[in-house]
This record gives sequence, structure tokens and C-alpha cells, in this order.
Amino acid sequence: MRLVLLGPPGSGKGTQAARLKDELQIPHISTGDLLRAEVAAGSELGLQAKEVMARGELVSDEILLGMIRSRLSREDVANGFILDGYPRNVAQANALEALLASIGQPLQAVVQLDVANELLVERIAGRAKAEGREDDNPESVRKRLQVYSDSTAPVIGFYESRGALAKVDGVGTLDEVFARILAALGK
Ligand code: AP5
Repeated sequence: MRLVLLGPPGSGKGTQAARLKDELQIPHISTGDLLRAEVAAGSELGLQAKEVMARGELVSDEILLGMIRSRLSREDVANGFILDGYPRNVAQANALEALLASIGQPLQAVVQLDVANELLVERIAGRAKAEGREDDNPESVRKRLQVYSDSTAPVIGFYESRGALAKVDGVGTLDEVFARILAALGK
């Protein structure tokens, strides 16, 4: 299964993708995790991305496409993948569509996790205390939510127009949300 998980910061994309990875036996590709690994390694790319991520803004489309192209060229995606955090704007959605067409592996499903903003802020505040992620401070969270509504929300319409979108209520226990995603995927 070739799947995209869409949703605002804190909607549960990473949490549910980790479960889907085990259930479907396909890799979980999180662009946030890939970028954080570059930052931690102190690579050239990480140095470019660090401040942008800390502010809650988007890293350049060019850097992201290079990362995704390289990740999707690995053998472990032969049976599919779960993309978490990509695409994040319509330009990225178009680039992904072209890339997947060029390798004859079009997307099969796009799941949008729906959670109200107040609950997102509450969840991220909980994680900030537990994990201290650099972009989980109130100012960056406000920016991330703004970027989601300005740049990422239009991606919903992009996939709706292709008849590929399934909307899932992301509020409930982890098990409840997971069961809804599986049902949306016909599993
Ligand atoms: P990224 O790492 O993708 O961050 P995000 O989209 O802001 O997502 P989060 O990790 O905050 O939330 P999530 O939806 O994964 O929720 P989670 O499962 O963690 O990106 C970080 C940055 O990298 C971006 O801001 C940007 O700078 C850059 N970047 C990444 N991709 C990019 C791209 N394509 N283009 C350009 N730049 C890019 O859950 C959150 C919390 O809620 C957790 O504590 C969890 O335990 C809890 N939780 C989850 N589900 C539930 C539930 N059902 N009930 C109660 N609590 C729950």
C-alpha cells in the first residue's frame, strides 16, 4: 500500500504511522524525522534546516524533494510506504505525483486526520513537557498551525479532486483512531 497521512501538527500522524508500519509491514517515512536526523548529525542539510524548523516554517521544497526521491529509491519501499509530513503544500503534492508516476508507483490512499486546534495545542504542550522538541514551544506551534492552514490545507483539495482522500476523525483513543484508519483503508 502506498499511503500518505495528512493532518495538522499534533493530529497523530507519527503515532498512527508507527502502528500502520507494523500492521501493513511497510516503512514509515517521516520527513520531520529525516530532517531531525540531519540536524542531529550536523550535516550541511541539517544546518540549513535547523533554524527554519525551530521557527515552525517549511524547509525548502527543493531539499524535501531530494530527500524524498532518495528515500523512495531504496528497496524497502517495494511493497509500499507510509508518507508522514509530505507533501505539505501543493507544489510538493505535484512533485510527488510526478515522481511516483515516473517510477510507476502511484499513491493508493490519502488519509486526513481531523482534530480541532485546541486539542492539537493541548497534545503538543503535553509532548513539550515529556520530550522537549525544539519546535514545540507556543510561538512555533502557532506558526506551524498557521503554515498548515495556509499551505498544507490546500493539499486536501488536491487529493479530493483526485478521489483519493479519506477523512478520519483523529479524536479518541489511539486504538479508536487506528481502527478508523484501517476501516478507511478497507483493512
Ligand atoms: P513534523 O515532524 O512532520 O511535525 P508536525 O507535522 O508538526 O507533526 P507532529 O510531529 O507535531 O505531529 P503528528 O501529527 O505526527 O502527531 P504525533 O503522532 O507526534 O515536521 C516538523 C518540521 O519539519 C516542520 O515544521 C517543518 O519545518 C519541517 N518539515 C517536515 N516535513 C516537511 C515538508 N514536507 N516540507 C517542508 N518542511 C517540512 O502526536 C502528537 C502528540 O499527541 C504526541 O505526544 C502523541 O502521543 C499525542 N497523541 C497522538 N494521538 C493521540 C490521541 N489519539 N489521543 C491523545 N494523544 C494523542
